[in-house]
Amino acid sequence: MGKKYVPFVVLLLISVFLFSGCGKKENTPTPENTPPTENPASGKTESKWTIGMSQCNLGEPWRGQMNEDVRRAAEAYPELKVIFKDAQNDTLKQRAQMEEFISADVDLIIISPKEAAPLTPVVAQAYEAGIPVLVLDRRVLGDQYTCFIGADNKQIGENAGKWIVEKLGGKGKVVELKGLMTSTPGQDRHTGFRKAIEGSQIEIIFEADMKWLEPEARKEMESALARFDQIDLVYAHNDPGAHGAYLAAQAAGREKDIMFVGIDGLAQEGQVYVQQGILNASFEYPTGGKEAIETALKILNGQTVEKEITLPSRTFTK
Ligand code: FRU
Repeated sequence: MGKKYVPFVVLLLISVFLFSGCGKKENTPTPENTPPTENPASGKTESKWTIGMSQCNLGEPWRGQMNEDVRRAAEAYPELKVIFKDAQNDTLKQRAQMEEFISADVDLIIISPKEAAPLTPVVAQAYEAGIPVLVLDRRVLGDQYTCFIGADNKQIGENAGKWIVEKLGGKGKVVELKGLMTSTPGQDRHTGFRKAIEGSQIEIIFEADMKWLEPEARKEMESALARFDQIDLVYAHNDPGAHGAYLAAQAAGREKDIMFVGIDGLAQEGQVYVQQGILNASFEYPTGGKEAIETALKILNGQTVEKEITLPSRTFTK
């Protein structure tokens, strides 16, 4: 080849390279087409996806269990890295933490929101920014999220109500200690329960919002005990609440006259209370941590998932 042809040949080769697509972006590594790689320095597998997990608080054992379920499920997938944030039962803090996840442009967010209405906009903001959002256990309003995972709280409330009607033979004086009523499980466990006792002679003599917290439940129960000589049963929206009520009754020497029913049914909490005879029943509320990770993986791998995943619940009695 004569020297004067060399520049033309070089130009031709460059054009062939560009038009054949070799220079296109699809072939640059993306999270979708890159397998997890091994870091030669640490010998550890590098994750290719980051999940932000926003937990509303870690005060109750149930929430610790949820994080543990998420962590354990994610451990099986080296391509996943989960960053946990605890909002310490503070809605504003949880909103700020969500904003941090959005700025960091994480690949997916899991949120178990403290309250529905005030956390709806920030969930929508993440969703609109193209970050898939899995809402776990407590709902937000509207449909600006990718998927909701949780058990049917209305059904659980209804199951508890039916069980109570049967146990009390259709009549009695009941105290209802409600979960935070700005959160959807509190609203639904209340509605389902009231539906189930409709038409019976069960009378709700005292009701209070104990905000899911054992010390609050104990305090409210002290007021109920002071006001009423006869209380047949306490229906609390979670096991810490039922336990708080039991402790108040025990301090007043009245725990043997009252039945206690709670929700959550954790192996290390509600189930133990039932075995010990502290609670008469506990209705299981699964954390959904494992299901959240399984669903997250599907989304990250480009699969479509159901908008709503409903988890089953069991009843624990002696
Ligand atoms: C824990 C908890 C559980 C309850 C759930 C409802 O914070 O109060 O006891 O079942 O949240 O969202």
